[in-house]
Amino acid sequence: MPRVVLGVCGGIAAYKAVEVCRRLVDAGIHVAPVLTDGAQEFVGALTFSALASEPARTSLFGGPEPIPHTYLGQTADLIVVAPATAKLLGKYAAGISDDLLTATLLATRAPVLVCPAMHTEMWEHPAVQENLSTLRRRGVHVLDPEEGRLAGGDVGAGRLADPARIADEVLRLLAGVHPLTGRTIVVTAGGTREAVDPVRYVGNRSSGKMGHALANVALRLGARVVLITTANQPVAAGVEVVAVESAQEMHDAVMARSASADAVIMAAAVADFRPKAPSDHKIKKADGVPEIVLEPTTDILAALGRAKRPGQMVVGFAAETERLREHAAAKLAAKRVDLMVANDVSAADAGFEVDTNRAVLLAADGSSAETQLLTKEELAAVVLAHVVTYLGGPLGGPST
Ligand code: CTP
Repeated sequence: MPRVVLGVCGGIAAYKAVEVCRRLVDAGIHVAPVLTDGAQEFVGALTFSALASEPARTSLFGGPEPIPHTYLGQTADLIVVAPATAKLLGKYAAGISDDLLTATLLATRAPVLVCPAMHTEMWEHPAVQENLSTLRRRGVHVLDPEEGRLAGGDVGAGRLADPARIADEVLRLLAGVHPLTGRTIVVTAGGTREAVDPVRYVGNRSSGKMGHALANVALRLGARVVLITTANQPVAAGVEVVAVESAQEMHDAVMARSASADAVIMAAAVADFRPKAPSDHKIKKADGVPEIVLEPTTDILAALGRAKRPGQMVVGFAAETERLREHAAAKLAAKRVDLMVANDVSAADAGFEVDTNRAVLLAADGSSAETQLLTKEELAAVVLAHVVTYLGGPLGGPST
């Protein structure tokens, strides 16, 4: 999840920063607000604390971290200052750091977006314009103010850009490094376990490594990630983990979470059959060789293909041991998926329980690609590159 520091200065437009904060949080961005003393004359820190991802900070001193400006500056993927006053622009251009916001701006290498707001006379003053030129020359992004009603009933240039435009601009800037910002990706992982009795199950050799790698990489690309997994593999903090065991539990979790997802990636090895009547007590040896009757499970991927919304992407994995392309292409068509990632699970260096994979990617438009031998993280990056392309870049959602 991308981290954004939202700097708020003292101006009447400070109340609009509350809306910027909400829109960014809604787009799946981790927002850390920093308020100047002036900002707090107009709007309370508590308002931001209630809406943001962490409590608002207001001071260089006395907070939870001993050196908050370096912490904020180093961990930010982007800093946005809205509204940015003439005073803030002047201090930033001159390299003055006399409060938490200006110190954070000097302590970061992340992209910075400033959204000025002030009276027309101040906005047009050569000192302000020269400071902005200096900042632009240094690579700072500036979202110019709009014409409109200003404090005190005046009308003119200087009104803070609309919060929806500010949020969109933040997403656009983040998209360079975090192309899945604002997107929700559901990933499944691991092999399901189908109970025979309270002790025994029918399972398979899937380790969950591929699905967990997909979840980690999707998170790094900026997505909000839900990982529905049977596996006990490590996964990055920030991924929402839903632990399941059986095909039915996985089906229920996937269907509940996928309706609002932008992409669903079924990397799990779901059992095709389960014991029809699992025993509710341990089957005893003395009772003789049991006969276990199986029944089919629901095909989750096929259900996703049928329920797919326009624009939503469904990705399947095909585990094959022979005639890889042919079998995978048949599954792609039958289950109505957009991308099938097929791998030969009988190869020693691909498939289950190993750290590497070699795959054939088949897309619904008929195109295909074959990868080298890759680590599962690398294959995850390849699959997610296809997801990024399919979804067409970052979400325009915050302005809707
Ligand atoms: N899959 C699913 N639900 C099932 C079985 C499979 O969602 N009950 C999904 C898997 O997660 C995978 C894809 O379908 O993304 C293909 O799984 P695979 O086992 O290769 O194919 P099957 O359709 O089960 O066919 P077969 O076992 O005959 O190869």
